[in-house]
Amino acid sequence: MLSQVNTIGLMGIDGFSVKVETDVSGGMPGFDIVGLPDAVVKESKERIRTAIKNSGYKMPNGRIIVNLAPANIKKAGAYFDLPIGMGILCSSGYASAKDMPEYVLIGELALNGELCFSTGVLPMVISAYQKGFKKAIVPIANAEEAAVVEGIEVYGAKNLADIVNHFRGVNKLERAKVDISEKLSKTRDNTLDFIDVKGQYAAKRAIEVAAAGGHNILLIGPPGSGKTMLAQRIPSILPDLTFDEALEVTKIHSISGEISPDAPIILQRPFRSPHHTISAVGLSGGGANPKPGEISMSHNGVLFLDELPEFRKDALEVLRQPLEDGRVTITRVSGTVSYPCNVMLIAAMNPCPCGYFGSNSRACTCSSDKINKYINKVSGPLLDRVDLHVEVPAVNYEDLESNEKRVSSAEIKERVDNARKIQTERYKGTGIYSNSNLTPELIEKYCSLGDEENALLKGAYESLGLSARAHSRILKVARTIADLDGSERINVSHISEAIGYRSLDRKFWLQQG
Ligand SMILES: Nc1ncnc2c1ncn2[C@@H]1O[C@H](COP(=O)(O)OP(=O)(O)OP(=O)(O)O)[C@@H](O)[C@H]1O
Ligand SMILES: [Mg+2]
Repeated sequence: MLSQVNTIGLMGIDGFSVKVETDVSGGMPGFDIVGLPDAVVKESKERIRTAIKNSGYKMPNGRIIVNLAPANIKKAGAYFDLPIGMGILCSSGYASAKDMPEYVLIGELALNGELCFSTGVLPMVISAYQKGFKKAIVPIANAEEAAVVEGIEVYGAKNLADIVNHFRGVNKLERAKVDISEKLSKTRDNTLDFIDVKGQYAAKRAIEVAAAGGHNILLIGPPGSGKTMLAQRIPSILPDLTFDEALEVTKIHSISGEISPDAPIILQRPFRSPHHTISAVGLSGGGANPKPGEISMSHNGVLFLDELPEFRKDALEVLRQPLEDGRVTITRVSGTVSYPCNVMLIAAMNPCPCGYFGSNSRACTCSSDKINKYINKVSGPLLDRVDLHVEVPAVNYEDLESNEKRVSSAEIKERVDNARKIQTERYKGTGIYSNSNLTPELIEKYCSLGDEENALLKGAYESLGLSARAHSRILKVARTIADLDGSERINVSHISEAIGYRSLDRKFWLQQG
């Protein structure tokens, strides 16, 4: 008997519809899966056979042929177990295939017939919804993650027998429900607060600007000045994730298997700080079975690269394109996948191997050769992609001892939120949410300058030897500074502050010239 069960395959973070056709007929016993299954799908035969037996059903005696259509796209992963298993049970009369067309089934089987927690379920259910399916059955451990998708009924199942009963109309599965908006408003990890950081007013201001416009920022200064400390506090001032952003972030984390049944949805902006020994593939994604890299795991959040010059040069260089495009594209023989990576890059570094070049607190002991070699590990093109370059000098003693009330993360966040609100309103319908993502046309439209401001920028462009990219990045930062100021117009003080954030390479990178 022939049966058909729907499921979803994954390519990158997007799903495609797969029809699992199962035919059981008399003749020589056999079990074949066709339709470009990968090694994992091929292995599923043994899992399914044992799971069916251990659930109390009999594996049919005849010849079983399973076809995964469309046959020309490679199918990878263990979550085809469930649809194939159910196809066999439908074809052998244990369950009715009548209601099957409106369902998608996703899940990996354990040998005892239970459904295991699977990776990538959220993106699969999102695409099931987009393809018009009404109902999805997933492992119970993935039910909460999948239930955030509105418009599709999600049922969590413990094991194969529960699903068979569901389709027989006895003991129907219960629909999973979750209220993500409520969770989003409640979740915030407030352990690290800017109130702990003494002095460093200029750095804090620059970080506020970066957070308000989603700009990349580089902190440079001597050891122990608080660069790592400042960077780690940035999540506390970023705007809350919106529902759509949370879905996108969870999709990527779901594919990487970085969510668990206890925390099925990512509710906070990611903050990733990979160690500097990370490989190029680890940072930007790829591999034989392509996986998102750290830059995509930071999507809609922060990628923090501490001790920037210690990173492998090839790893840093591959970040260049993704940083510009907000997307990583990986090409493999099996096809092209692409992962979003709209991140705020935060980098921290010392200006030289001993750490004290350019510092007032201590003399630098490095030769100019050594300094050059060290600092040039961070290439010009990479530096050019960072909107704000900020010096974090040693904290002076008065600041350390001062009892003056310091500004808290909550106060900064309020200003950041206000500036972001202005941006959301202004860019409504353009698919852009923050100034850092402005396209050249939008820069022209929203960052126009008066004569005086123009003259100032022209002077800086020529005297600092800026690139065209630096020019447009200065305009974006100036737009953010004006937004923080609640000003529709970009005026001289906004543009000059933005230029100030691009002048550090004069001091550190070009000190020999
Ligand atoms: N501005 C500051 N206010 C309060 N404490 C500070 C400040 N700066 C540094 N500290 C203290 O010094 C410790 C070290 O700071 P941090 O690790 O941020 O320095 P760093 O600039 O990253 O140094 P390195 O260049 O060696 O990585 C912090 O954990 C904190 O206790
Ligand atoms: Mg540090």
